[in-house]
Amino acid sequence: MNLAAQSRTPLSDQLRFLRGLVQSPRGVGAIAPSSPALARAIAAQIDPLREGPVLELGPGTGVVTEAILARGILPERLVAIEYDADFARLLTSRFPAAKIIRGDAFALDDTLRHAADRPFSAIVSGIPLLNQPMERRAALVAGALQKLAPGAPFIQFSYGLHPPIDRVGQAFAQRAAFVWRNLPPARVWVYRQP
Ligand SMILES: C[S@@+](CC[C@H](N)C(=O)[O-])C[C@H]1O[C@@H](n2cnc3c(N)ncnc32)[C@H](O)[C@@H]1O
Repeated sequence: MNLAAQSRTPLSDQLRFLRGLVQSPRGVGAIAPSSPALARAIAAQIDPLREGPVLELGPGTGVVTEAILARGILPERLVAIEYDADFARLLTSRFPAAKIIRGDAFALDDTLRHAADRPFSAIVSGIPLLNQPMERRAALVAGALQKLAPGAPFIQFSYGLHPPIDRVGQAFAQRAAFVWRNLPPARVWVYRQP
C-alpha cells in the first residue's frame, strides 16, 4: 500500500474500507479510501459560490466529503448517498449536520424523494462506474445531470485511462485532473449539460 499517498487516512478507516471491499468488491471497488490529494482535486471542481445543495454519491468513509466541506460548502448544504450501512452510520456520526442517506445512487429519484427540492450546484461521484455495464453508467450519469442546475458539474473519478463513458447526450467527459498521488493513480472527469 502506498502509505505516502494515504498517510492522513486513519488506519481504522483503511481497515473499514478493506472490510467493505471484502463484502462488496464491485460496490466498493478500491483497496483504500481516496488520498487527500485526490479528494482535493475532486472538490476543486466545485464552485462554492454557486447556489444550491451539493450531492455526493458513494462517500465511503468521508475523505472526499471532508474536502468538499474544506472547499467552503457548509455541511447543511451537503446531501450524501451511501449504499453500505456501516459507512452510512459512520458518516452520520462524522457529519451530523449533513443529510446522509443510506440508499442506492442508481435509483436516484427514489433515493432522493424526500431530500431534493432544488437543483444541485454540483454532484460528486465516487461510485466505481467501471465495474458497471455501459447502460448502467449512462443511466446514472444521465439521471444525475437531470438533478443539476444548468451548467453545473457532475464530477466522477476513476482509475482507467479513459472516462467511464465518453458522453451522455450533449455532456462530454472532460478530464479535469490526473492525480498520481493516489493508489491507484486516478483521473477526475467532469460532465456538464451545455
Ligand atoms: C471507490 S469507493 C469511494 C469512497 C470514497 N468516495 C473515497 O473516495 O474514498 C465507492 C463507494 O461507493 C459506494 N457505493 C457503491 N455502489 C453504490 C450505490 N449503488 N449507491 C450508493 N453508494 C454506492 C461504496 O459503498 C463505497 O463507499
